[in-house]
Amino acid sequence: MPDPAHPKIARPDHEILDVIRDRWSPRAFDADRDVADADLRTLFEAARWAPSSRNEQPWRFVVARRRQSPDAFAAMLATLTRKNQAWAAVVPVLLVVAVRTTHEIDDLVNSHAWYDAGQAVAFLTLQATAQGLSTRQMQGFDPAAVRAACHMPALYEPAIVMAVGYAGDPSRLAIEYHRTDEASPRSRRAIREFVYADIWDNPLP
Ligand SMILES: Cc1cc2nc3c(=O)[nH]c(=O)nc-3n(C[C@H](O)[C@H](O)[C@H](O)COP(=O)(O)O)c2cc1C
Repeated sequence: MPDPAHPKIARPDHEILDVIRDRWSPRAFDADRDVADADLRTLFEAARWAPSSRNEQPWRFVVARRRQSPDAFAAMLATLTRKNQAWAAVVPVLLVVAVRTTHEIDDLVNSHAWYDAGQAVAFLTLQATAQGLSTRQMQGFDPAAVRAACHMPALYEPAIVMAVGYAGDPSRLAIEYHRTDEASPRSRRAIREFVYADIWDNPLP
């Protein structure tokens, strides 16, 4: 159970599930605490049960663990932007999320594949929160380098790289705004800004 006074815990306008309220994306990870094999597997079990168009499950994950496979981890880390490397170097697990962008049945473009993969990742992140784990997703990577680093076939596209581990001490972050960001509250649009009744721009009463 996280500290309810922690600045990153959501302050929702309406009551929501604890795991949604308590999930947030740290940059500070505990360098000394690894993710147990069984816990890692449970994350993928959660992703497995996400819905998808035609049930094609177009997501794939490549796992690089810092302790167990240091070379693969270093290769994955090197694909990130310098700013992401600055905090991600100590995380125990980096995951690549890849998407198969064509349908298996006819090879036509699957325009919902990215949507489906996002849902699988959302399931995974909430499962992680329930297990006391933290995640941070990254678009700051070189797609060609990721493809090369994990030998990704051409049918797939790298969507994000994701850090998984236990939240750590923000004072250890090298970049100053990363340290301050770790303590700033999370903000979100109000529901009326993205939910409409009947027609566009008409706020839901
Ligand atoms: C697709 C995606 C890409 C992101 N890319 C990065 C990134 O490259 N570097 C980073 O530090 N955070 C990245 N983030 C984290 C977001 O900044 C973070 O999720 C957002 O500020 C909301 O904060 P919260 O997850 O704590 O609610 C990314 C998140 C998503 C979903």
